Amino acid sequence: MDAATVMERCDALQVHTEEPGRLTRRLATPALAGAMDAVEGWLRDAGLETHRDAALNLFGRLRCGSPGAPAFLLGSHLDSVPDGGRYDGPLGVLTALAVVERIGATGARLPFDLEVCAFSDEESTRFSTAYWSSAAVAGRSDPAWLDRSDTSGVTLRDALTAAGGDPAAVAGCARSRGEVAGWLELHIEQGPILERDGLPIGVVTGIQAQAQHRFTIAGTAGHAGTTPMAGRRDALAAAAALIVGVEDVARRTPGVVATVGRIDAEPGATNVIAGRVTLTTDVRHPDDAVLGRALAEIEDAAHAIAAERGVEITNEALALNRAVPCDPGLMSACARAIASQGLPVRELASGAGHDAVALSHIAPVAMLFLRCRGGISHNPAESVLAADVTVALDVMERVITTIGGRP
Ligand code: GLV
Ligand code: MN
Ligand code: MN
Repeated sequence: MDAATVMERCDALQVHTEEPGRLTRRLATPALAGAMDAVEGWLRDAGLETHRDAALNLFGRLRCGSPGAPAFLLGSHLDSVPDGGRYDGPLGVLTALAVVERIGATGARLPFDLEVCAFSDEESTRFSTAYWSSAAVAGRSDPAWLDRSDTSGVTLRDALTAAGGDPAAVAGCARSRGEVAGWLELHIEQGPILERDGLPIGVVTGIQAQAQHRFTIAGTAGHAGTTPMAGRRDALAAAAALIVGVEDVARRTPGVVATVGRIDAEPGATNVIAGRVTLTTDVRHPDDAVLGRALAEIEDAAHAIAAERGVEITNEALALNRAVPCDPGLMSACARAIASQGLPVRELASGAGHDAVALSHIAPVAMLFLRCRGGISHNPAESVLAADVTVALDVMERVITTIGGRP
């Protein structure tokens, strides 16, 4: 399986979408099931043993280790953000398949089996459950997440059951440290550095810490025409102040990025003062302590706004993930594999989150980034070069054979 096939398959998966004309593929939707079925067919065609777990993840195993050997995992996710691009996720799954197929064709015996993973919920845009599917594999899925609802009020528990998963068996998806030898994911960079430096591929040093919260602002709904401005408890005006406050914290703390990506106002009518608003925050920094201080400053800003405007502001943590360094041994195997292609080794940190965050609890993790046009991602304009994918396949194969003791 060559780069052209990987590219064709990334294209082909786009038909599996919730919205015609846009690529939207969220957890527990028929669109995700369609993509999983297509990939399972390709895994089987490559001679891999396939398996689905209760969290709707798909795996394909090549038995190239001795009986009872752990599995080295490679892959990425098949869910997408709304109106996303074709490479964020699928590129990692399909390059993993190509590499495992190649290694299988050589008949190599390794100290581990190889397993291609297609995770069901990395983006977590439907239920705000960061890395829910890989967290299940890492034994870190919080059962309380099953009660979270999507915007239509459907709970994760019900969506999972309807899609053929099993909420009661999610805990059973967990693999132990001894069962997993490591994790390698190829992902588009989602940033401009490799393109700027004229390099196809780079080694990821780590993934920054990330916190997501939902803030609820309670004010008093009222008539837009008759309620005097003085004394209003306008939840949406308070939300506006909070959004700017969040941005201020990020702007004055070097390296902090903070985003309010979603807001809902009730009752949501042109002529009614909003009585209740919820908004989400996503705050990140490479250092856990700096992130903690930024979160405390946001809390302080929220208290000040609440006092000034006479509203109540509360918040609920949706996700808190510490910064995750990649494994030095795997990073060095990645660096050597890149150098073996005659390429300079560029190390870069990941601003985006990835399943490696969850998997780092049970295994050493590594990632490779691939150059993408304009650094654009989470956007239908995502674009990569087939020639770069060719380099990636050679590098990934080399990494696996090197760590397997067969350089
Ligand atoms: C995932 O793409 C994230 O970083 O939010
Ligand atoms: Mn993404
Ligand atoms: Mn991704």
